[in-house]
Amino acid sequence: MRGTSSFLIVANRLPVDRVGEKQWRRSPGGLVTAIAPVMQRRDGAWLGWHGAAGEELKPFDHDGMHLIPVPLSQLEVEFYYEGFSNATLWPLYHDVVATPVYSRVLWDAYRAVNDRFARAAADAAAPGAVVWIQDYQLQLVPAMLRKLRPDLKIGFFLHIPFPPAELFWQLPWRKEILEGLLGADLVGFQRPGGASNFVRLARRVLNLPASRNEIQVDDRIVRAEAYPISVDFGSLDQLVREPHIMTRAKEIRAELGNPDHVLLGVDRLDYTKGIGQRLKAYGELLAEGRIEPGEAVFVQIATPTRERVEEYIRLRNDIELQVGRLNGEYGLFGWSPINYMHQSYNREELAALYCAADVMVVTPLRDGMNLVAKEYVACRHDLRGALVLSEFAGAADELKHAYMVNPYDIDGMKRAMMTAMHEPPHELGRRMRSLRRRVATHDVDRWASDFLKDLEA
Ligand code: ADP
Ligand code: G6P
Repeated sequence: MRGTSSFLIVANRLPVDRVGEKQWRRSPGGLVTAIAPVMQRRDGAWLGWHGAAGEELKPFDHDGMHLIPVPLSQLEVEFYYEGFSNATLWPLYHDVVATPVYSRVLWDAYRAVNDRFARAAADAAAPGAVVWIQDYQLQLVPAMLRKLRPDLKIGFFLHIPFPPAELFWQLPWRKEILEGLLGADLVGFQRPGGASNFVRLARRVLNLPASRNEIQVDDRIVRAEAYPISVDFGSLDQLVREPHIMTRAKEIRAELGNPDHVLLGVDRLDYTKGIGQRLKAYGELLAEGRIEPGEAVFVQIATPTRERVEEYIRLRNDIELQVGRLNGEYGLFGWSPINYMHQSYNREELAALYCAADVMVVTPLRDGMNLVAKEYVACRHDLRGALVLSEFAGAADELKHAYMVNPYDIDGMKRAMMTAMHEPPHELGRRMRSLRRRVATHDVDRWASDFLKDLEA
């Protein structure tokens, strides 16, 4: 039997997480931020895991989207999600900034769960449907699904970096992963470098004939291209023009003690985000007296994420120790140099925070895109605010008028933060205008329609 969805998103995560009996909470991360508005504007279904272990749920509608839950057992959460996805692939694809775990038990679970997603997609898709598979957790699904349903148009998009051949080579299952991805008609990457790494590997590992961006697989051509993902510029721009957001932004500054400078970091608490490095740079500015007591507050919002994976537990301990030390050493009664929150916020509060921040500090050691940087830009129609941005974020290709930094270069980051804090308004305006032009014309709708147009061509 065939399903009824003519457009299907397949992602590890649904846009909402199950909390308690009947409550839903928005799931974390950039994938959900990007795909949710795309789905709200199209007819289709979103197939994915609902964030709780060992629970089977029926399809349901939420916030204008039709959602089809795929269950994961407790052991699968541990082996497939926390294990192979987030202790093997995540660090390997992010330039091994942490050491990847290679384990056959985790791989077996990854394969089994990918097979479940492929079967669920095969059941849900209408004849000839377009199926768009998302991200590193599901790299085997394209080939598995093609086997079950050769009638479908299958697209795949990788939200994180695709590593250089020399690193990918480490993976004991490199052949299987490449074969899995090559089940798609079109494989999308954040940057051109990811696409060319992939083509090169298909040639070297699988001996397939390939040109610059096309790979021949049996009698099919698989294309590999870059499609830089983005944010819903229009809706953020509209949101921050509502008076209550500006009022809240002023309130936040007042709650922080109205310092001259508010610096802001917003990240999942992930070791790829360079949070420790940016706090070290800020700490040295305090130690050297270049930032005076009471002059600035650094607000670091760190969203809880993957909390049972060892590297994440270690990172949280390190960051919280660092924050505690800096506040203990340099704080005064009534002023803490760092305001650290290990919490999630809703869209409106985040937008108000972006508006309240003079300097947005985005310093990942490696990042597929980084939507936080683009959200900040989308929220600053007042043309104030400075973006400090890592060269190692995908967003650096587009946001060329940011204050660029190498997050490994602490002195360079200190200089960039100081410049951003003291830049005259006309220079801030000049830079922000150019950043906004880019994000406004390359928003998430354009990303999705460029990809889907190429897939259907
Ligand atoms: P990643 O996908 O690695 O988490 P991105 O920067 O691309 O990184 O996307 C993060 C998304 O999560 C953004 O849309 C951001 O607004 C959202 N986000 C980050 N931190 C929080 C938080 N504390 N509360 C709510 N949303 C958050
Ligand atoms: C990144 C990944 C997404 C993931 C998100 C949140 O954006 O590319 O696939 O959903 O982080 O991580 P989580 O493990 O909570 O899904």
